[in-house]
Amino acid sequence: MMLVRSFLSVAFALMFLVSAGLSFGEPAFAQSNNANKPVEGSVPGGTTSGSSSDAELWRQIRSGDAGNVVGQNKSGGVMIQSQGEEWRQIRNGPLPMYSAWAILGILFLLSVFFAFRGRMKIAHGRSGKVITRFTLLERGSHWLLASSFIILALSGLNLIFGKTLLLPIIGASAFSGLTIFGKFVHNYVGFAFMIALVMVAVLWIIHNIPNRHDLVWLLRGGGMLGGGHPPAKKFNAGQKIIFWIVILCGASISMSGWALLNPFTTTMMADTAALSNSIFGTEFATNLGPIQEQQLQTLWHSVMAVFMIVVIIAHIYIGSVGMEGALDAMTSGEVDQNWAMEHHSLWVEEMDEASQNSNAKAAPAE
Ligand code: HEM
Repeated sequence: MMLVRSFLSVAFALMFLVSAGLSFGEPAFAQSNNANKPVEGSVPGGTTSGSSSDAELWRQIRSGDAGNVVGQNKSGGVMIQSQGEEWRQIRNGPLPMYSAWAILGILFLLSVFFAFRGRMKIAHGRSGKVITRFTLLERGSHWLLASSFIILALSGLNLIFGKTLLLPIIGASAFSGLTIFGKFVHNYVGFAFMIALVMVAVLWIIHNIPNRHDLVWLLRGGGMLGGGHPPAKKFNAGQKIIFWIVILCGASISMSGWALLNPFTTTMMADTAALSNSIFGTEFATNLGPIQEQQLQTLWHSVMAVFMIVVIIAHIYIGSVGMEGALDAMTSGEVDQNWAMEHHSLWVEEMDEASQNSNAKAAPAE
């Protein structure tokens, strides 16, 4: 016990002496460093790396230059990434703001349109006779595409607006659980969307090649100008526009989704910038670092997704409440003949011709 007490008193005495030295006089180690005090802008600590090269080194680090990394995380070579701040500001500012305007805008326009125009009726009423419009495979592909897209859209929109709209209502722990679940669902359902996209593209691409009737259809506003329905084959010009938006934007979203699922493994943004520069003479930066590549991918993914959501809201409107008889095509697969004659007269003619030909072939020779 005595030994411990005397050890403690010596320790306290030493601590007192050291702190007194620090407060009231120059401590021993401070004096010994005097020789290394910075002189005329040199680097403190007498470093041998050189005073002139350090400014250059810090300038490079500040401008986001990447150093070499021995480990797996190659993006770790960038110490200061200023574009991250710009990305954060866009991600939390204009992106949610314009997205909200776009989605609310299309809902508003459709409501106004519906209020004035009402439901588009089958002008001659239902005939009672039906004609097969889509096979089971076509409908199955469409509904796989539609259901996966709606799940992706809702779980994706939660990432843009959830913190502002949902969090205050359902609370932090429910929001956290929902968002983590939504993220996993989003990652996996993306593959169902890609498969459905390929199926829809293969099944319908032949019917979506533009033809001369499309111009007439567009000039007559799909029947809103000049009265009557302009002739159309299986898909009219409006539907062809929807088809190509779905296929091209869907492919682009899928590619950026792939890049987000496999971070730092692709250079699609830099490659696209280079391609655009060489074709259109734009001056996009092509020396993108790995983090910048990911940041641009998240922005592109969101912008494409919101654009598609807006287009698809209009599509859902016209395919359900907006037009009498349209939804039958995607439920039973059979549409009323009068509906088909009004909206796709040339397609009905083609179908009639095809069935007459097959009847003639099937009829026994006299
Ligand atoms: C609940 C939602 C949806 C409904 C009620 C719906 C309804 C329909 C209907 C009725 C058709 C056939 C139109 C016709 O016979 O001419 C159709 C076609 C089509 N749908 Fe959907 N759809 C929905 C969601 C989606 C989604 C989410 C996508 C894509 C992401 C999509 C892509 C297409 C495409 C590309 C076509 C062919 C072109 C066209 O008719 O515009 N649909 N849909």
